[in-house]
Amino acid sequence: MAIVYEKQGQGEHVFTLHTEHSTYQMKVDGHGYLLHLYYGGKVSGCMDYLLTYYDRGFSGNPAAAGLDRTYSLDTLPQEYPALGTGDFRSSALAVCNGDGSQCCDLKYAGHEVRKGKYGLKGLPAVYAEQGEAETLEIRLRDRVSGVEVALLYGVLEGEDIITRSAVIKNGAGTGITVEKALSGCLDFVAGEYDLIGFHGRHAMERNFQRTAIVHGNQVIGSRRGTSSHQYNPAVIVAEKGAGEDNGSCYGMMFVYSGNFMCEAEMDQFGQTRVMMGLQSEYFRYPLEPGEELVLPEVILGHTDRGLGKLSRMFHGLIRNHICRGKYAGQARPVLLNSWEAAYFDFNADTIVRLAESAAQLGIDMVVMDDGWFGKREDDNSGLGDWQVNERKLGCTLGEMIERVNGCGVKFGIWVEPEMVSEDSDLYREHPDWALKVPGREPVRGRNQLVLDFSREDVREFIFDRICSVLEQGNIEYLKWDMNRSLADVYSARSVQGKVTYDYMVGLYDFLEKLTAKYPDLLIEGCSGGGGRFDAGMLYYTPQIWCSDNTDAVDRLRIQYGTSFLYPISAVGSHVSAVPNHQTGRMTSLHTRGVVAMAGTFGYELDPGKLTDREKEEVKEQVARFKGYADLVREGDYYRLSDPFRDSCGAWMFVSRDGAKALVNVVMLEVHGNMPVTYVRLKGLKPEAVYEDAESRRRYSGAALMNAGLPMPLRMGEYPAYQMELNEVRLS
Ligand code: GLA
Repeated sequence: MAIVYEKQGQGEHVFTLHTEHSTYQMKVDGHGYLLHLYYGGKVSGCMDYLLTYYDRGFSGNPAAAGLDRTYSLDTLPQEYPALGTGDFRSSALAVCNGDGSQCCDLKYAGHEVRKGKYGLKGLPAVYAEQGEAETLEIRLRDRVSGVEVALLYGVLEGEDIITRSAVIKNGAGTGITVEKALSGCLDFVAGEYDLIGFHGRHAMERNFQRTAIVHGNQVIGSRRGTSSHQYNPAVIVAEKGAGEDNGSCYGMMFVYSGNFMCEAEMDQFGQTRVMMGLQSEYFRYPLEPGEELVLPEVILGHTDRGLGKLSRMFHGLIRNHICRGKYAGQARPVLLNSWEAAYFDFNADTIVRLAESAAQLGIDMVVMDDGWFGKREDDNSGLGDWQVNERKLGCTLGEMIERVNGCGVKFGIWVEPEMVSEDSDLYREHPDWALKVPGREPVRGRNQLVLDFSREDVREFIFDRICSVLEQGNIEYLKWDMNRSLADVYSARSVQGKVTYDYMVGLYDFLEKLTAKYPDLLIEGCSGGGGRFDAGMLYYTPQIWCSDNTDAVDRLRIQYGTSFLYPISAVGSHVSAVPNHQTGRMTSLHTRGVVAMAGTFGYELDPGKLTDREKEEVKEQVARFKGYADLVREGDYYRLSDPFRDSCGAWMFVSRDGAKALVNVVMLEVHGNMPVTYVRLKGLKPEAVYEDAESRRRYSGAALMNAGLPMPLRMGEYPAYQMELNEVRLS
């Protein structure tokens, strides 16, 4: 039993959630408040002895406590702290009642334990087989206003994962406004913690940042309408001293692709609170009597075995309980994308030429990126006009796809459905379909506006257009792009304050319909590269273009940060031309190949410009990747270095049974008379003997993990090494 319920005397209830290696516990106390007792390594028994009660000045006492001055919600750990109850720390919930008061005094009103994992109406969420998960629903209620909150907990015992969400219902007789509604709160009564976040910018996403959680409030988040390049909606709370392979750490990942916030705070007594949920700016969600607001899910994971283990827990969870559809657990096609090969300058012959090269090189699919529709010779016009520009292509889309398929190559296409250019027929016809504030000129981003996806009529129109393109031929892949932030958050049709949330629910509705209609279509998410790289999108698109930066050295760092949270199977990664188009840097084709193989793998260049020797190398690379594809996609991933600080970027994949491994190293520094870099391996079986597939040299697992391997000293910048190790079966 993953969920254990225990009634404890007068009105007291203890709820314990056990996973294989962790325990999460909470308790409804005699006053009816739901207190958090514990989250961490597996324990037994009731942890309420951790709660302490002292008369603390200026920490108020709720009426329920009578004259007891030692009972205060300002000092006790809580499951779902609400504004207006005498807890002066940041709250998870802020409600404005019909009378204008801002109070929601939530007390226990019932609970239910169910087999299986709960789902969330209109939102992506972790899924599981009936036997793999259990659900706990705890209902809380404010007696005066009638506002109800159903807290949802999903327990995936075998995955060491707990999920949280909540549904807020207006049980009052008048309208209320939800002003802040976070999904998950973790209160720690003791300990010193660091907050690890992943910040970035366009073309340099998910940089690792570790800072101490100190007194005061540290807030990260997005108010861009997307999860954003700038802050990823996932954090790690690590105990001081916890490192890659040791120590206690907690992951908090938001299953949502829009505005979010994460607040971390150390309170006056050194207690820590970390919360994750919807961004409260641009958010004032009105609920009429009887209406509900479903909050997106937060995934929680704990391990006492360090950041590497936490990453592998998240990787497994996302692969097996977030990503869906035919491709979730299958080899992905190796792609050749036209973007950096041709940008807007192509016709059908160009695409067919790419397909011919792809066929020769063993590449599975050609993707026609931006520029095939409407009037779209650059990025200033045409978005919204999803009609094939047959004049530009020189034939119909169907004819072109037949030629591509005729080469033995699959075909994929790029779209950006959420957008509209002012210079487009769609905008001229429906200027009110874009998000705009009345009486104001909208903010432009990449010279385009955002369509109001909170409106069903807008979505339906675009859906029909996209489907009519998909019907024109054998299209097996769709790159779903989104190239600006939402600024003018105002819908001509919706109640303001709802728009950012309803936009996301609208987008998810669109994607749900699309994936249902085209179950065999592989969709790759994208937002100027990795601006919407989150678990919400991964529910619909099992891979996401990781960054618009294809420079191998920058990618090492971008992919390193990404790997803390998301599986390698989700990371769109391609080999591009040199000098690199984003940085001008030169790296060898081999190095670019090794880096791109830590992802879905593909090419983003014109093979026609390669020398014959390079073509041979690409052919060999593609074949090599295909040999490793299962190991890369499904294997356990280990970070062997920190490319922000170390002299190399190094990582490895190990098969589940520990019998096969692929080690990857890219040297980042070159100096005269340089010291040797040793890379220590991980995840192998210490007692096993492994053979290097190339040199045939044998090593014990223990030797490789304890002493490591010396990297050769080579002239030139950024040499890369890839080593396949196979366990030798000694009879
Ligand atoms: C975004 C994507 C790129 C490419 C362009 C096309 O920037 O991230 O990969 O598709 O749009 O305009």
